[in-house]
Amino acid sequence: MEKSIKEILITEEQIRQKVEELADALNKEYAGKNPIFVGVLKGVVIFFADMVRKINTPCEIDFMCISSYGGTSSTGNVVVKKDLSVDIKGRHVVILEDIYDTGNSLDFVYKYLLGKEPASLKICTLLDKPERRKPGITLVPDYTGFVIPNEFVVGYGLDFNEHYRNLPYIGVLKPEVYQN
Ligand code: IMP
Ligand code: MG
Repeated sequence: MEKSIKEILITEEQIRQKVEELADALNKEYAGKNPIFVGVLKGVVIFFADMVRKINTPCEIDFMCISSYGGTSSTGNVVVKKDLSVDIKGRHVVILEDIYDTGNSLDFVYKYLLGKEPASLKICTLLDKPERRKPGITLVPDYTGFVIPNEFVVGYGLDFNEHYRNLPYIGVLKPEVYQN
């Protein structure tokens, strides 16, 4: 195991099973609807790639990039750095997310995409950390992989200072790593 990791919270095998479960549900809901899966860069890329390869109905993919100015996402000031490249008006859209934390990012993306008048808009998040939710954010993901405790996790796309995204599992960082 990577030396900066205190414990593995979710193993590769648990992730693999969950991806299959989530994709099965999406396959049922979106069969024949030509959905567009939208990923918010960069944290979602690994989950996104695993998910769409389990989708068995014709679909499209697209990506957005957002950033928070004035510090972290918890300030709630979000701007679009890269917009979608396809028109989602009248289309069935599914946002794939890595983690629903304070909720600022997802809340912003959800409202932003709703403004583009999709036929439907749903959210599928791999992780949910409900204890961190900012008051006033009431969005409930339609599909959730794992509800996790309030700990900073890395791996499977999630980073700390842009590192650890390549770990195949989801782990908790040793405190000394982010206290330095
Ligand atoms: P938000 O606070 O819900 O807006 O989450 C914003 C972003 O913060 C997520 O998309 C992740 O990229 C990142 N994030 C939140 N919690 C964690 C974590 O535990 N580890 C790594 N990144 C995180
Ligand atoms: Mg991040």
